[in-house]
Amino acid sequence: MDRRLFLKAAAAVSGAGIVGVNDRAEALEHEMIHLLEAPERPPLRKAEGEEPLSVMPAKPTLVDFFRHRFAPASHVLQSATRAQKHGMSEEIILACLLHDISVTNLVRADHGWWCAQMIEPYVPEKVAWGIRYHQALRFFPDPSVGYEYPEMYVRMFGADHEPEPYIKAAHDYARNHKWYMEARSITMHDDYSFERGVEVSIDPFVDIIGRHFKQPKEGLGNDNSPTAHMWRTMINPRRRL
Ligand SMILES: [Fe+2]
Ligand SMILES: [Fe+2]
Repeated sequence: MDRRLFLKAAAAVSGAGIVGVNDRAEALEHEMIHLLEAPERPPLRKAEGEEPLSVMPAKPTLVDFFRHRFAPASHVLQSATRAQKHGMSEEIILACLLHDISVTNLVRADHGWWCAQMIEPYVPEKVAWGIRYHQALRFFPDPSVGYEYPEMYVRMFGADHEPEPYIKAAHDYARNHKWYMEARSITMHDDYSFERGVEVSIDPFVDIIGRHFKQPKEGLGNDNSPTAHMWRTMINPRRRL
């Protein structure tokens, strides 16, 4: 992990007056994603930029979202790259690729649940399941697979803070589920992905997306799925109503 990046994120978060310790943990992670992706921009907590958004194709695909809205998407691309290097299944690689896409583009709070819901109509069930529960699992070590409590949370909050009851409940549920490793694998490739200066691209993942993401022919946002409105919001988040 980049120490300067961590300290900068920690400073931004501690000045933001966030009360709950888990909210601060979330904010810190999101701030780090933001700094990694756009270090030249002011912190998220201060102001969202109003730069013009690029025009998306009429029938946008997931790859179009990566190119037009999620870019540079360094954090998720690095996570997916690590998963691929470690020989994970294509479904886990896809889960790593999508695990935080709501954070910089739609909603940050409870991002595991939001990201899972967004993609649920289009991916294998266990991909969405893994993404939903990665958020809770990050707070719980699992020595049997070498997952340690994130160093940045220890530095920021001390080793003794308590996750909220719903996070604990989600963890307990996921831990005993047959798909536990789907979610755990995301956290294992997530924690170490805040590195700068690593060039990543969506190109190596286009085939995996093609095999496992059911791209609607009308385009994301136009397909009347239960989550089409989320994709429309990302196409144009500045609609007035
Ligand atoms: Fe996450
Ligand atoms: Fe992440």
